[in-house]
Amino acid sequence: MKAKKSQRKTGKKQNLIQSTLQVNGGSKSNKLVKCDKCEMSYSSTSIEDRAIHEKYHALQLHGRKWSPNWGSIAYTKRDHSSTMHLSRSMGTMTPLNSSPLKNGSSIVHQEEKIVSVRPDKSNGEVRAMMEIMTLVNNELNAPHDENDIWNSTTEEKGKAFVYIRNDRAIGIVIIENLHGGNGKASDRGRWMVYDSRRLVQNVYPDFKIGISRIWVCRTARNLGIATKLIDIARENIIYGEVVPRSQVAWSQPTDSGGKLASKYNGMMHKSGKLLLPVYI
Ligand SMILES: CC(C)(COP(=O)(O)OP(=O)(O)OC[C@H]1O[C@@H](n2cnc3c(N)ncnc32)[C@H](O)[C@@H]1OP(=O)(O)O)[C@@H](O)C(=O)NCCC(=O)NCCS
Ligand SMILES: [Zn+2]
Repeated sequence: MKAKKSQRKTGKKQNLIQSTLQVNGGSKSNKLVKCDKCEMSYSSTSIEDRAIHEKYHALQLHGRKWSPNWGSIAYTKRDHSSTMHLSRSMGTMTPLNSSPLKNGSSIVHQEEKIVSVRPDKSNGEVRAMMEIMTLVNNELNAPHDENDIWNSTTEEKGKAFVYIRNDRAIGIVIIENLHGGNGKASDRGRWMVYDSRRLVQNVYPDFKIGISRIWVCRTARNLGIATKLIDIARENIIYGEVVPRSQVAWSQPTDSGGKLASKYNGMMHKSGKLLLPVYI
């Protein structure tokens, strides 16, 4: 199955996304294959589809190219020795940077940083961000109209943070300010029982910020990047204040999001049930 020609005129980035949607949700084709690494289905006989897959695959696995001067720096990691991480699966030390640049016998890591991106400039970084968010929404099956939490033109409802490694955006978090501009308590907070995914009835906890979206590219998962993104967001979302972990809520956590949430700020209830802070 091919994406419509008319949709290909408006620019390559958009095409990637629209075509992806068509390929995933479109009519049946006898030649559809599903990539087991990025999970995209596409027609292996169509040159166009193969090209679309190649781009999507690279984005999903390795993140998106990111210009060094995009965004405002919120955190920089320069201590190369501390880029070593204990791999959970292997129990061995592996570098956080999966593609270190070799320099003689020593390994040189490029700078890693987290930047915040403002939606009010119509430039490359905003377009890049929208492209990543479309991919994330597709992966999460999340509504695309919720993007306006970040790129609303009328007021600043939320903030986006991007993790950059080797000039690629490899993770993002979109944070929503649940108290809004006036600092008033929110009625959106709930507790979710981790096992059953049920919301606790008649309890309305007040959380300050919400994680609207969080995503890390596939080859960079399980290295603490999502955790770092949320930590830096907590320090940079409300001026002059570090939002405590306990004040961070999750929006409809996925399987992996639920696991991350349970580690990050799940609460053990006296009943023995693990509760996650969520918001609706
Ligand atoms: C959820 C996601 C953002 C986690 O990113 P990440 O960078 O791999 O997370 P971290 O490395 O910071 O994980 C922190 C902790 O959460 C746990 N965790 C995170 N994802 C997990 C998973 N898929 N399975 C098991 N545990 C997981 C880890 O055990 C880790 O704890 P530990 O260091 O004590 O072992 C990533 O898997 C992702 O992008 N998933 C697809 C998008 C998505 O589902 N987003 C969530 C929306 S709510
Ligand atoms: Zn693929």
